[in-house]
Amino acid sequence: MQLFIDTANVEEIREAAQLGVIAGVTTNPTLIAREGRNFREVITEITEIVDGPISAEVVGTTKEDMVSEAKELVKIDNNIVIKIPLIPEGLKAIKELAQMGIKTNATLIFSVNQAILAANAGATYVSPFVGRLDDISHDGMELIADVCQVFYNYNYTTQIIAASIRDPIHIAQAAKLGAHIATVPYKLIMQMCKHPLTDLGLESFLKDWEQVKDK
Ligand code: G3P
Repeated sequence: MQLFIDTANVEEIREAAQLGVIAGVTTNPTLIAREGRNFREVITEITEIVDGPISAEVVGTTKEDMVSEAKELVKIDNNIVIKIPLIPEGLKAIKELAQMGIKTNATLIFSVNQAILAANAGATYVSPFVGRLDDISHDGMELIADVCQVFYNYNYTTQIIAASIRDPIHIAQAAKLGAHIATVPYKLIMQMCKHPLTDLGLESFLKDWEQVKDK
């Protein structure tokens, strides 16, 4: 399973890239706003750090606006993927961009039907949101399971990005279900790494080594 980092913070991206575990980056307007920096400048900097798919989201709400924003964004780098909200105008934009060979990531997906529509329109990726469903007492992971089942039933080539991931357990669950990618905040990558038995084991290995290192 591939991991993308879900942030617009370049320091976090740099740190995660050094670990060698991230294959791409996803951003959204909220993550960009959190950095308080110019959108284009941030995306350009990210492309200089990570050589993999980098999702940059459009903010237009008509097909025309989305497509013209997309055309500008892909000029930044070949790795740019256009993130498009799953609304009817978004589907039209996904279709047109697919015809132009521009990769898209259909975002704000909360149902299997929305995922089917995105895949049929030609989306490269779909991003079903787990955490935001959990927030309203729905089972977000069940959505991942359902989208995986349907996409595997019909051999869709659209890749599933488990998004809105808030808990490390969601990553392992999404991997077991067959999601191609999980996009996760930096904090979760560090949590994935952590195990108390690893720390205890290392502590005792190093202590034991002290007794023989000079022999
Ligand atoms: O990039 C989309 C996504 O992962 C949002 O996560 O935590 O704001 O629901 P969250």
